[in-house]
Formats: sequence, C-alpha cells, structure tokens
Amino acid sequence: MKIVKFLLILVCIYTASLQSLIADDAKMKKGLEIFNETAGCAGCHALKAAGAEGNVGPNLDTVDLTIESVVEMVTYGLGVMPAYGEEEILTKEEIEIVSYFVANSAGK
Ligand code: HEC
Repeated sequence: MKIVKFLLILVCIYTASLQSLIADDAKMKKGLEIFNETAGCAGCHALKAAGAEGNVGPNLDTVDLTIESVVEMVTYGLGVMPAYGEEEILTKEEIEIVSYFVANSAGK
C-alpha cells in the first residue's frame, strides 16, 4: 500500500507542475500581446523577445529587472514613462502579466 500512496503523490506533483507550465506559457503569450499591442511598450522600448526596437526608454534587454521592479515601474511610471496603474490604462492583472513577460524575457 505504501508504494501506491507514493505513486499517487508523484502523479499529483507531476500534474501540478505540468499545469503551472501551461499557465506560464499562456502568461508569456498574453504578456507579449500586452507589450506590443495593448500597452504599446514596444513604441518606447527595445526588447528582443518581443521584436521591439523603440528607443525612447531604456533597452530592456540591458537592464537588471525583477517582476516586482517592472510592476512598480509600470504601475507608477517615471518621467515620460506612463503610469499604467495609476491612470488605469492597464488592470492590475495585465500589469502583473506584462511584468512577468518582461522580467522573464529580458536579455534573451
Ligand atoms: C512613452 C514611452 C514609454 C512607454 C510607452 C513605456 N515606457 Fe517604460 N520607460 C520609458 C522611459 C523614458 C523610461 C526611463 C524613465 C527614467 O528613468 O526617467 C522607462 C523605464 C522603464 C523601465 C525601467 C528600466 C530600468 O532602467 O530599470 C521598465 C522596466 C519599463 N520602462 C517597462 C515598460 C513597460 C513594460 C511598458 C509597457 C507597459 C513601458 N515601459 C512603456 C518610456 C516608456
């Protein structure tokens, strides 16, 4: 019986990680769409993974980013960079998704 329990636990772990992989993939796709279309980040920023070549703001492939730092920047803006959160241009969820995409694709 012990081995059955063990196998069941393994199956659970496997499905859970598979589901989160699929979710991550969907987030990357959605993030790309927000970056290039919904929010127009690409108009100002270069980011190889998005095929973006904007040069108003910093090249995002060359700066050190975390999801949290991108969320902060996109929410509150700075100088020419719009405050997408404060001005309600993007929802909290969209900001989270686009930041996930940027932080995970910068420099790749
Ligand atoms: C109108 C042009 C413009 C748009 C659109 C824009 N940005 Fe920016 N962004 C800037 C500028 C300019 C800065 C530099 C701000 C400063 O340091 O004064 C910046 C800074 C940043 C930084 C910080 C980079 C660093 O040096 O650490 C991140 C991250 C960022 N932008 C992400 C985004 C994302 C994601 C979007 C889309 C949701 C976006 N930006 C849309 C102009 C823009």
